Amino acid sequence: MKNIISSSELSKEEVEKILERAKEMEEHCKKGTVPHLLKNKIVACIFFEPSTRTRLSFETASIKLGAGVISAENATVNSSSFKGETIEDTTRILSSYADIIVMRHPEAGSAKRAVSVSTKPIINAGDGANEHPSQALLDLYTIKKEKGRLDNLIIAFGGDLVHSRTLHSLVPLLLQYPNNTFYFISPLELALPREYIEDLKEKGATIKEMSSLKDGLKEADVLYMTRVQKERFNSDDDYDKVKDLFILKTKDLEEMKKDVIIMHPLPKINEIEKEIDDDPRAAYFRQAENGLYIRMALLVDVLGL
Ligand code: NCD
Repeated sequence: MKNIISSSELSKEEVEKILERAKEMEEHCKKGTVPHLLKNKIVACIFFEPSTRTRLSFETASIKLGAGVISAENATVNSSSFKGETIEDTTRILSSYADIIVMRHPEAGSAKRAVSVSTKPIINAGDGANEHPSQALLDLYTIKKEKGRLDNLIIAFGGDLVHSRTLHSLVPLLLQYPNNTFYFISPLELALPREYIEDLKEKGATIKEMSSLKDGLKEADVLYMTRVQKERFNSDDDYDKVKDLFILKTKDLEEMKKDVIIMHPLPKINEIEKEIDDDPRAAYFRQAENGLYIRMALLVDVLGL
């Protein structure tokens, strides 16, 4: 049985297969010829943290492929978790109703706990600040589509790097391709932990760490902005100190490559000036659309179809 828990568990062959499948799904969606590969299947989406794109794109993907959907949003309050039920017990029940379980939970490691008792494939839709593999795959798909390659790129990550589960899942995937350079740009408080950087270096990653957005903009082929993750801070004061430090301004675009793409997993708050939305280099809305095709590919893939 296949689960999608951590992007590090995916081989390059598996990644390439998912990207290829997503491309087919995109073509089917555009032509209106999506095959009902998930007919008679049920997809359960249980979200213990807020979501717009991830949950609704998984649900749309399921429906397009002919599956039925059962969904618990706001599950911390609206499921038996509120009464104290464990992730394990909730998962046992869901796996007796559904054929695939898509789960988001605030605790790092929650998806692994679900896998330990599940009889059905689990897709991790975000476990705390740890990982978000389906987002990383749609990010990869976007980079390939927009830049035409996944190697020889300078990818600059800006903002809240310590809490960004999408970054944590994307970097290992990009490391599978040769000659990529990573710029990690953040205020000190939001920088990646030392052990994480050391581990990436051991894996052969080329890395530059910077504390000013300006320093990394010029050479970047991809600028990946992130939201400062308010919900992961211990106090509002700690959040207030860093929330406005990294803002991409329209005038910054003048210094950037003409063919750079600006990505963001969304939601964005104030970290990208809203005038940038209309610039063709802003790829984040196209990126969100790609989530649908990747998630269609993943639903089919975990069932071995
Ligand atoms: C991200 C997440 O939930 O980690 N959102 C998403 O799934 N597209 C990023 C974020 O919340 O900032």
